Amino acid sequence: MKEEIIRYFDLIRFIYLKSKIESENIDKLINKTFTILPRIYKSEFAIYKHDKKFRSVINKRPINTKAFNTFYFNILEHMTNRLGLKIGNINENFFNTKFLSLKDRDWSGIILDKTIIDNCAFIIKNKETNLIFSFGHQSENKLKDLSNYIYSIDHNRYENIHVIIFKNSEELDKARNISKSHIYKRSFFTSFDEICSKVKKIDRNYYKKIFSINDDFSRDKLKIKNIASLHNIIIEDNIPVGLEKSNFYKLTFKSKHPIDIFPGQFVMIDTSRDRIKYRSSSYKPKSLSSISGVKPNIYNDLDSKRFSFLKRPFGIYRTYYENFTYDCSSKLNLEKELAAILYTIKPNKFEILYKVLETGTGTNELTKLIHGDKVEILAPLGKIFDLREILNEEIDEIHIVGGGVGIAPLIYLVQLLRFFNIKVKAFIGIENFDSLCYNDAGVDPQSFTSTGRNAKIYIDDLKYLGLSETSDIYLSLLSDSNEATMINNKHVFKGCFITEPYSNYLRKHNDLKIITFTCGPIPMMHKVHNLALQYNLKSYVLMEKRMACGIGVCFSCVCPTIENDVNHYSRICIDGPIVESNKINWNEQPS
Ligand SMILES: Cc1cc2nc3c(=O)[nH]c(=O)nc-3n(C[C@H](O)[C@H](O)[C@H](O)COP(=O)(O)OP(=O)(O)OC[C@H]3O[C@@H](n4cnc5c(N)ncnc54)[C@H](O)[C@@H]3O)c2cc1C
Ligand code: FES
Repeated sequence: MKEEIIRYFDLIRFIYLKSKIESENIDKLINKTFTILPRIYKSEFAIYKHDKKFRSVINKRPINTKAFNTFYFNILEHMTNRLGLKIGNINENFFNTKFLSLKDRDWSGIILDKTIIDNCAFIIKNKETNLIFSFGHQSENKLKDLSNYIYSIDHNRYENIHVIIFKNSEELDKARNISKSHIYKRSFFTSFDEICSKVKKIDRNYYKKIFSINDDFSRDKLKIKNIASLHNIIIEDNIPVGLEKSNFYKLTFKSKHPIDIFPGQFVMIDTSRDRIKYRSSSYKPKSLSSISGVKPNIYNDLDSKRFSFLKRPFGIYRTYYENFTYDCSSKLNLEKELAAILYTIKPNKFEILYKVLETGTGTNELTKLIHGDKVEILAPLGKIFDLREILNEEIDEIHIVGGGVGIAPLIYLVQLLRFFNIKVKAFIGIENFDSLCYNDAGVDPQSFTSTGRNAKIYIDDLKYLGLSETSDIYLSLLSDSNEATMINNKHVFKGCFITEPYSNYLRKHNDLKIITFTCGPIPMMHKVHNLALQYNLKSYVLMEKRMACGIGVCFSCVCPTIENDVNHYSRICIDGPIVESNKINWNEQPS
């Protein structure tokens, strides 16, 4: 019996087992093997197909991991070839070299560090970056050592990135748990399923040829899940932003477990610090009536006029990933196809930027939270807007147009867009320059940006994410203050709304393919929508409505929309907050 035929068979069986397809039936496996066999083996295989001895031999054989690695490596290689990337330093210990598709490799420019070469599976050279791949089924200790070693030599330059490929989505999910982020320092995790689904998207014909059959080996099992749950978070910082009488705060919190939250989604925060002590496990309410009344007994010591009973919704302003620095998006410089595969890490540290409303109970309560407080949040909430979907479209630029505190959730959007290496232009409208300034009194400067003093929110964030202050950021200030000259930006416009310079920009660049995201006051978003119509752009709004439950039950967040030319009401908490702007019934919005 030809060894090659057995190997192909192993491969098919392995894929079957790892993709957790239950019915591993020998006839089915034989048929699948037949479909992927090279023509030269087909006739020989046909002879053995029904032979009992042969069938029992192949059924008892242990699974061949090398065949599995090799098969998927060839799929990934197809993609990297299309992207013009080099693959080098293939460690033959991990592969069935007979089935490696490429023989002559260009190793120039690829890292030649012996510890890395000996312990990794292969390396892909991406512009200035060495993407060092290993397999999740390697020994955990060796993987850990390799991961720590790569981290230690790279010094956050992101010239050497460790990527661990897991066999399937289940293993990937386990690895994404934050505890593994400590074990495998600053590693990206991905899976064969992810690689397959990406290759399928970029070259369906190739994918079909490889699998020869339906897509059943690698179904898209890694669906993005949107399961909100309660998290106990720890407050790290709660600091005022803006000079003098600031009503903006930046709240930083950490969650024990990572939260899979996407831009546009939101969290509902229990804003009351005073409630914390009652949430301790030792506390037992005296009677049911004491917790069901409008003002429970347990809260008798609190000022009943200013006490929130419901959690409040906030968008995410910035996120942090264990062992990855905030500016990694701008340093990584990945091709968007590769980024889509590698974007599997989850954040565990978050920031919201909130405005304290004059008559606002919850936002006033929030200001009292201090370092070390534990608060309950419900997250992630809102419909997932999968950015990976728009990556498939031909786009020249993505614009964010934000007004006031509405800019905050757009910053997180930019964080992700930059990870996917998309060109972003930011149009920011604020009241005055003072409201951008970071109040550093008594606060560790590192907690804002590494520049600390004189940091400017939004502008410094965008710079950290790789936008140029002089060419990518447009700023409008309603008040005509001279301090605006402190901003090194030739695109500062005084005494006008941001929609004015935005309109001029679109007029000058009407040949570009642009997608717009906007968030802020309704009149501003409406104006941006009209500009999008005028210039035929796809545009999205991040809608904010008052919310009581955040999960689609109470209907407090309904928004007049239009579906198929019919007036409609949508619940922003579950149908949004990101909504295509042409679905909003603008005539029915409060001004
Ligand atoms: C998805 C989403 C994301 C949000 N993200 C942010 C954010 O990143 N930063 C931020 O500062 N705010 C954000 N908000 C708004 C924030 O939720 C409200 O400002 C907050 O809930 C007000 O709570 P409060 O208890 O202080 O005010 P309340 O005591 O509940 O109300 C005080 C006054 O403000 C009005 N009001 C309250 N909420 C809203 C609202 N959403 N729209 C219009 N009027 C309102 C009330 O009618 C009332 O007059 C977001 C809202 C949503 C729905
Ligand atoms: S907030 Fe309750 S339905 Fe949307």
